[in-house]
Amino acid sequence: MHQLILLLHVLSATVWTGGHLVLAFSVLPKALAARDPGVLSGFESAYERVGMPALLIQVISGAWLAYSLLPDVSSWFTFDAFPGKLITFKLLLLAMTSMTALDTRLRIIPRLSPATLPAMARRIRLVTLLSVLFVVVGVSFRGGLLA
Ligand code: HEM
Repeated sequence: MHQLILLLHVLSATVWTGGHLVLAFSVLPKALAARDPGVLSGFESAYERVGMPALLIQVISGAWLAYSLLPDVSSWFTFDAFPGKLITFKLLLLAMTSMTALDTRLRIIPRLSPATLPAMARRIRLVTLLSVLFVVVGVSFRGGLLA
């Protein structure tokens, strides 16, 4: 069972992080050069169908994996010892991703225009960086950079 959940977790990580890297390094520069928010909207409407389910699968499978590693849920919220500190990192990244996504949806997307494109670009770069950090923290469970 653990292997199956881990496979789902990694598969949706490729969708979430991979999609954001394509957005940040390929689609966003085109939109900025053309000063055309439509380039972003086209990508977002296609990506949203797989990106949002992928993030939901990340959260559910991540919670399952965290519980199987560390059934004491209270230690998920302290930067104490391994592997609890990595779970705390993941939850922190999740909170930052959710806050940025909410801010973008409520404040930027409703008035997306060539003038607000740089603000949108900053948020895309931030969520992409957070998505890469999710992977860095994830692989550290097996003894990586942060273990
Ligand atoms: C977009 C969000 C996320 C991405 C991209 C992501 C990515 C990854 C990756 C690449 C691994 C490494 C798997 C391996 O080395 O075999 C991993 C492991 C893990 N992730 Fe995530 N993750 C995300 C969200 C979460 C969340 C929200 C949690 C819940 C706290 C979580 C908990 C875990 C756990 C516990 C492991 C270790 C599993 C194990 O080795 O047994 N992840 N993650």
